[in-house]
Amino acid sequence: MFDLLHWKIRQALCPFKRAVSPTQWLMNLDVPSYTQASTPSLAERERYLLEGYPHFNDLPPSWGWVKLESLYQLDQIAHLLETHSIPHAKTCHWVDVGSKNGATLGACVAVAAQLGENVQVTGLELDTFRYYLDGYTRGDYARGLVKAFAETPALNVLGTLDFVEADVNNYAQMHPATADVVSCFLPFVLTKEHTAWGLPKQDFEPQAFFKSVWDLLKPNGFLLISNLSEDEVHAQRQYLDALEASLPQGQGMVRHVEALEIATRFMRCSEEKRFLWMLQKIG
Ligand SMILES: C[S@@+](CC[C@H](N)C(=O)[O-])C[C@H]1O[C@@H](n2cnc3c(N)ncnc32)[C@H](O)[C@@H]1O
Repeated sequence: MFDLLHWKIRQALCPFKRAVSPTQWLMNLDVPSYTQASTPSLAERERYLLEGYPHFNDLPPSWGWVKLESLYQLDQIAHLLETHSIPHAKTCHWVDVGSKNGATLGACVAVAAQLGENVQVTGLELDTFRYYLDGYTRGDYARGLVKAFAETPALNVLGTLDFVEADVNNYAQMHPATADVVSCFLPFVLTKEHTAWGLPKQDFEPQAFFKSVWDLLKPNGFLLISNLSEDEVHAQRQYLDALEASLPQGQGMVRHVEALEIATRFMRCSEEKRFLWMLQKIG
């Protein structure tokens, strides 16, 4: 009950911040580089990622701190694509579900620009109302990033980027079968994570969430997922098994990569485990 009330209050207070964009503040941030860090193997991985995904360098300079977080997402996507590639296509519409403050989007843009010619990246986030210590919300940050992106000279290769404040369950109903790639970095698969991030317990419906995520995919589209722990992998597998069992006749799920365990050091520089999935919608 309290969690639902808390959620409603956060939503109600948020419009007061809507018009504010922290872009200028972002531009003034002094951003370190892993390449300059005293960790040679991390610097080497950074160089490898930037050579493999050169469009990452085309992202707006004011995205500095976001690029650091995006490197961590890029590291994971690159691991997946090293294991199983996604064919190059005429279009690449990429939807990232649970984009937080937009910090996941740099990696999606850089990879999408490599995968297709007509690139469109959409970040979806339900909880844009979360405030940071500086008084800005997740939504403010994401809108600032999109604004800076729209002014970047490399738009012709990077395509379009938008950030949508929406529940994927509603969004998928309005945009079924529109995405070539859908990514879900660390989706909530356990109740404790969902409530710890301030969402009401009664809204924890992972089965419906993954059905909506799946519905967004075009036939032959790819779904990329990352999980945090073996407990999450166990729950994730159950939701995917249930989804697969419920697919209509003529539709199938291919699991190209299932819970690939990797260690990533971007973000915090200490080694963190991630478990990666790549699935494909058939039919
Ligand atoms: C654990 S966070 C992961 C954030 C980000 N992807 C990352 O890797 O840092 C999960 C995110 O999914 C969002 N989310 C949960 N349910 C959602 C829904 N139904 N529609 C859109 N976003 C949702 C949450 O608000 C949260 O920001």
